[in-house]
Amino acid sequence: MPRPYVVGGTVVSNLLNRYSLSLMLMCSVYYFRYKKLSNHRGVIGVISETELVNLLGSRVMQIATPEIYPPGSIVWHAGDLTPNEIQTCQRLPFVSEIFHLEWAEKQDGSENRFKAVAKELRQDYDAFLAFLESADHQLVTILDRSWVEVIVPQAFDYQSPARQSPYLIRAMLNLGESGSSITQVLDPMGGYGQTLFECVLRGIDGATLEISPKASHRSADNIRKLLGRLQIPFEEHCEENRYLFWTETSPRRCYQIVNGDTRRADQYFQGQQFDSLITDFPYGVQAGARTEKMQPTQFDQLLDSALPNWKNLLKPGGRVVIAYNLYTLARETVLKLIEKHRFRQQFAQVDLSERISDKIHRDIVVFEKAE
Ligand SMILES: C[S@@+](CC[C@H](N)C(=O)[O-])C[C@H]1O[C@@H](n2cnc3c(N)ncnc32)[C@H](O)[C@@H]1O
Repeated sequence: MPRPYVVGGTVVSNLLNRYSLSLMLMCSVYYFRYKKLSNHRGVIGVISETELVNLLGSRVMQIATPEIYPPGSIVWHAGDLTPNEIQTCQRLPFVSEIFHLEWAEKQDGSENRFKAVAKELRQDYDAFLAFLESADHQLVTILDRSWVEVIVPQAFDYQSPARQSPYLIRAMLNLGESGSSITQVLDPMGGYGQTLFECVLRGIDGATLEISPKASHRSADNIRKLLGRLQIPFEEHCEENRYLFWTETSPRRCYQIVNGDTRRADQYFQGQQFDSLITDFPYGVQAGARTEKMQPTQFDQLLDSALPNWKNLLKPGGRVVIAYNLYTLARETVLKLIEKHRFRQQFAQVDLSERISDKIHRDIVVFEKAE
């Protein structure tokens, strides 16, 4: 029997168009609440998400986790689980509760059916409601199963120890939307290219700038592999410090991987402007066995030098979204720099910070090119 996708939040209305009635026959799922929220201000830790996908693989039917999305959603839905899987899930440190949700199938149209699911979830779980509300303010791209299958970490040869969760990247891109849809994205500290993966999956142009030649090279390997896996034909050009991937699709998409210093970012992308810059700022902690030598630069100085460059590369009204570590860079410093370089902060009232480990307290700031 075909299994339905049950999704959280925003997506209730999207679903109505997205899935045909024939997919909506089942009326029970499991969903997890992991990590209690206080006042809906929580954010999901990235490792736990990866863990869950790794554990359940294709059994994860839908993940309603615009994880940094204010005010936070923390529901994972899974299809029928075996008793063993339930036990295993109960042992996962981040799963606080597992619910079995059942609802009556109605005969009078899909809309009612999804309303019924939403109602059930709301009764159990008030953050779900908050999530629904948040969708009124910001477009959220749904996470779907095919995406999860393509993006799982095992699919790639090279994983940076500092590699970010694909969910975080997706959520950052969601936050980078400022009215009109994003079609060109730059990650000015791109690591192994996680941002590019998301651009490929969204069918938009993407670019990364990364100081480490090794990471840039591996990023190119990863993107080559992803395009291959998705059977997207492409041609590749390699210049001195730049890999260029042009898809042979209509319209053609371009993925650039540039090896260089973000403090001179505008020199590498002359004549180009992007809708959004999203980046995962160095966290200032040893990541795995990473051996690449980095210039010892104070993070505030690094950001101070980078911001004017980033601004030049943004279209008017475009947004920058940065994830950074509060233990190595103070929020006040970031906010001062944003002001100094005349950006306008967005979502200022929302706490997007999350303690990831004893060394990383991740925060996210969003700001717009105001002039
Ligand atoms: C937290 S990692 C980004 C990880 C990336 N999101 C990923 O998934 O692979 C930060 C990256 O910034 C890069 N970086 C540090 N200083 C830089 C600079 N001045 N210019 C460009 N990249 C820089 C580091 O080499 C590192 O790969």
